[in-house]
Amino acid sequence: MTDRTGPAQGPPPGPGPASGSPAPGPGGGAPGAPPGCPSHAGAVPLSGTAFQQSPSELYRSMRREHGAVAPILLDGGIPAWLVLGYAEVTYVTGHDDLFARDSRRWNQWSQIPADWPLMPFVGYQPSVLFAEGAEHQRRAGVITEALEGVDQFELGHWSRRIADHLIDLFAGSGRAELMSSYAHALPMRAAVQMCGMPAGTADAEDLVHDLRISLDAHEGDDPVSAYVRVQERIQRLVKDKRSAPGPDVTSRMLGHPAQLTDEEVVQDLITVIAAAQQPTANWICNTLRLLLTDERFALSVSGGRLSVGQALNEVLWLETPTQNFIGRWAVRDTQLAGRQIRAGDCVVLGLAAANTDPQIWPEGRIGAENSAHLSFSSGEHRCPYPAPLLADVIARTAVETLLERLPDVVLGVEPEALTWRPSVWMRGLTSLPVRFTPVVR
Ligand code: HEM
Repeated sequence: MTDRTGPAQGPPPGPGPASGSPAPGPGGGAPGAPPGCPSHAGAVPLSGTAFQQSPSELYRSMRREHGAVAPILLDGGIPAWLVLGYAEVTYVTGHDDLFARDSRRWNQWSQIPADWPLMPFVGYQPSVLFAEGAEHQRRAGVITEALEGVDQFELGHWSRRIADHLIDLFAGSGRAELMSSYAHALPMRAAVQMCGMPAGTADAEDLVHDLRISLDAHEGDDPVSAYVRVQERIQRLVKDKRSAPGPDVTSRMLGHPAQLTDEEVVQDLITVIAAAQQPTANWICNTLRLLLTDERFALSVSGGRLSVGQALNEVLWLETPTQNFIGRWAVRDTQLAGRQIRAGDCVVLGLAAANTDPQIWPEGRIGAENSAHLSFSSGEHRCPYPAPLLADVIARTAVETLLERLPDVVLGVEPEALTWRPSVWMRGLTSLPVRFTPVVR
């Protein structure tokens, strides 16, 4: 499997090749701080095995050493800031006039090589992700209303059918690797179905195949050509829905009074499908891991004391799928938690660190009873309002269906043998092997 450390963060700006422009941004911005700059003294490289296996330890020590906002070095020693505090992440995401989303504002573009590993996530694209102000409201408004039209019962029904089909493929064997054959396979199909391509059809399966390659390439895959095919298929979908609209997200986006162009709808549909994929897949997998390894959930899970809902929520607090999100760019010189932030500086949202900020958990115990975590971010660019509910329907159905169909499922390895993917952006396992009594339907 190709190690795509880094790029696999929350909602990618669309899978595939970098289309970033190193052009100077709309806000200009002062030339960047050289890596030796005093403001980045003691900067922590945001990479390495410490992040992989035990990021919370590292966030704790960064907080102790640097406070709520730490100087960091991204791949290749590029300076940026990691916001670790709950109040500070809320402040940054709530002030898009100060911390904006258009990456062309970055003061480091002259240092960034075209093949920089994070380029797929910072390279500007004319999608909702990098839009600002009124343009963002227009694009995000269309997505929000189109997603609001998804019937949650129907989505639950589709998700159940997809889950059953995926389980049927391995149920007879008594063992499975749930990351690839279940957790990753399910949300993509559910998202494609929401957009108007019925799951299981040849077209939908081809799209799912190419999306998988472009978002998470394995050895021998060609993510660039796969992404070109994704674009072509979505363009065809948009054309078809223009002439024959249906009860789906694509048709609602096309019919919205904001009158997005076909090109805009294509860009934003790819964003929606890609954004639904990795975070929801990791949410499913991290929840299954918790259920299968934590005795509070007392497996066999069917007789467990705590519910699937509690496990899903606990994961959002403690093992959130999008642990760090890049990012925001300072519009002008400003201060944050006593740090001097300069115009054009890159600010990374430390969502996992913020969720476990001792300021909000002064007694040290993380309660996880409510949903005030920042796993879906906050403010103007947060995960658009209906999306977390839809992700919850998909994730809950995935977990409950698996436990119902394979009631004696247990881990296929010792818990200590499970390893996390080497990404500082997404929190997810490399694999989740399980065993169960074979079932034939
Ligand atoms: C049905 C599933 C989902 C859909 C359709 C979806 C869609 C989106 C979209 C379109 C955006 C871009 C918003 C914008 O820039 O205005 C976004 C942002 C985001 N989403 Fe989701 N998402 C889904 C699931 C999830 C899950 C499960 C998580 C994590 C638990 C998540 C976390 C985020 C985060 C952290 C952002 C970035 C917000 C920011 O920039 O502040 N999403 N999502």
